[in-house]
Amino acid sequence: MPLDPKPVRIDPRVPWLKDLRRLLSPMSGVTDRPFRDLCRRFGVQMGFCEFASAAGLMYGGEATWRLVDTDDEEGLVGIQIFGSDPVHMGAAARMLRGKRHDVLDLNFGCPAKKVVKRCGGSALLADLPMLEKIVRAVMVESDKPVTAKIRAGWDEESVNYREVGLLLQELGVPWVTMHGRTRAQKYRGQANWDHIADLVEILDIPVIGNGDVVDGDSYRAMVAHTRCHAVMIGRGAIGNPWIFDSMRAVDEGRPGRLVGFAEICEVAAEYVQREVAWRGEPRGCFSVRKHLTRCFRGYRGAAGLRRRLFATEKSEEMIAILEEAGAQGDPREVIEDRNSMEQPGSQAEVD
Ligand SMILES: Cc1cc2nc3c(=O)[nH]c(=O)nc-3n(C[C@H](O)[C@H](O)[C@H](O)COP(=O)(O)O)c2cc1C
Repeated sequence: MPLDPKPVRIDPRVPWLKDLRRLLSPMSGVTDRPFRDLCRRFGVQMGFCEFASAAGLMYGGEATWRLVDTDDEEGLVGIQIFGSDPVHMGAAARMLRGKRHDVLDLNFGCPAKKVVKRCGGSALLADLPMLEKIVRAVMVESDKPVTAKIRAGWDEESVNYREVGLLLQELGVPWVTMHGRTRAQKYRGQANWDHIADLVEILDIPVIGNGDVVDGDSYRAMVAHTRCHAVMIGRGAIGNPWIFDSMRAVDEGRPGRLVGFAEICEVAAEYVQREVAWRGEPRGCFSVRKHLTRCFRGYRGAAGLRRRLFATEKSEEMIAILEEAGAQGDPREVIEDRNSMEQPGSQAEVD
């Protein structure tokens, strides 16, 4: 059965939105340039940079600007900023002018304490006059269409995605991305797809659904349940860029393919190389660990393989271990659910 997203109004500034279905979420500590490029190879149509603080872009140094390094990036790419001060947010948007990106996204979903205590991220869902000021300030300064990523609300008692969505639509965003949890939920429980369906129903612009899609089947299920225009993948892509291939198969109405263990090892080795080229040794070797933890999950011998990989800080050794593992054939027996998603760790307590 073909997917049946709701017919929507496409902003003429972003004609490509009509065919946009598969997006990579912004994820701090994850969606750096090498990972976005890798996901593109497997069929993601638009990647988002890790969020960058507006104040960090203004006053910070190289590290913050590195988060939004999109120079010569191929394909569609979004930059996301967060902050609580319309002046800072507008100034950051101005500084980003001329930089390679297709939309400038505003983070109204981050549940992390360090962000909400300064009234940024999801805290803005509880202060709509300030949220509006921020959107207006950024729209004046940015040379790109401005989009927004929200949660369902601050907590169960103040679920207000309808109000927020209608406000954003009125302000002129080309789309709204919605993660179907409240801030209070953080990553607990399930994303509420009924809320996403409801937002799709009441808005004329596209809604991009987000939360708990982990494979082709759950992608199909989210679109069937909500009729959202596109789906944004977060945790399901960590260590699994193949998820976009499975989604593409659904979009093209063909069966998904089984990814072999040798291919996982080969792509992991390629990713080590990309990260080291981007960050240097040994930082590149550390940065791939979250992906390596995930990509071998479920295979027999995965724990031993990870231990060997994590025991070295040299990319050459990591690549040799991966090549050796890949050549040993396919430990096809899967011993746990490869797609289950644990809570993000405390270091990743961001949204
Ligand atoms: C490690 C990590 C970092 C994240 N960083 C961001 C971020 O920078 N900006 C953002 O809007 N959301 C961020 N998120 C939230 C995801 O984009 C996404 O909304 C959330 O994980 C739910 O989608 P999922 O179920 O597909 O993971 C982050 C999530 C994780 C796990």
